[in-house]
Amino acid sequence: MSTEQRTFRRSVLDLGDAVLRPWGHALDLPGGTALALVAAAADPVIDRWNPLGTADPAAARAYLDRCDAAWTEGRTGAFAITDAADGTLCGNVALYWRDREDGLAMIGYWLLPTARGRGLAARAATAVARWGVETAAARRLELAHAVGNDGSCRVAERAGFRYEGTLRASFRYPGRDYNDEHLHARLAGDAW
Ligand SMILES: CC(C)(COP(=O)(O)OP(=O)(O)OC[C@H]1O[C@@H](n2cnc3c(N)ncnc32)[C@H](O)[C@@H]1OP(=O)(O)O)[C@@H](O)C(=O)NCCC(=O)NCCS
Repeated sequence: MSTEQRTFRRSVLDLGDAVLRPWGHALDLPGGTALALVAAAADPVIDRWNPLGTADPAAARAYLDRCDAAWTEGRTGAFAITDAADGTLCGNVALYWRDREDGLAMIGYWLLPTARGRGLAARAATAVARWGVETAAARRLELAHAVGNDGSCRVAERAGFRYEGTLRASFRYPGRDYNDEHLHARLAGDAW
């Protein structure tokens, strides 16, 4: 499979109550995209399990620079989850190549507190996984979450990412000790 085929292309995915839009400087969230990222980074649950590194507007703009570059190179499919009614930010779901040639991709997500509790992360992860398989020939999609992040474990299962095992001391959040992770995955041929 060629790199050309394994390219994530800027897309908009409609979930009904939410719309997934590419992260980047062209994303025009109400109140400002950079400020929305600063607010998201300040949420303690996001900071605990998925620190964003966007504590201030300059860092948020650098984040958007990286998103634009990754989209342009087809390396990452990084989507803002936005509310279909008012366009405000709900969260994030992103798929990126771990091994592009091999079709091995990894997914991650977070939601703002106001968007939690209605199954949105599982629906967004399912939609982006399917998009990755159907438009970029992803072969295997992995999801790793810290042991103890039980909400993310449930989201993984609900999105069809089966538990495959526990990785020991596999990941370190900035400034913290290594922690174990659950590895979940789904294959392109798994039923949706
Ligand atoms: C993980 C996260 C995206 C889930 O948000 P969500 O989509 O609103 O989750 P839901 O409320 O729909 O819950 C999904 C499932 O997890 C369960 N759940 C949610 N939080 C939980 C918790 N703290 N402990 C145990 N189960 C939990 C729900 O009961 C639900 O179970 P069900 O499938 O049996 O109904 C959200 O909590 C979040 O953004 N966390 C911070 C960032 C993060 O952890 N990202 C993932 C990094 S790997």
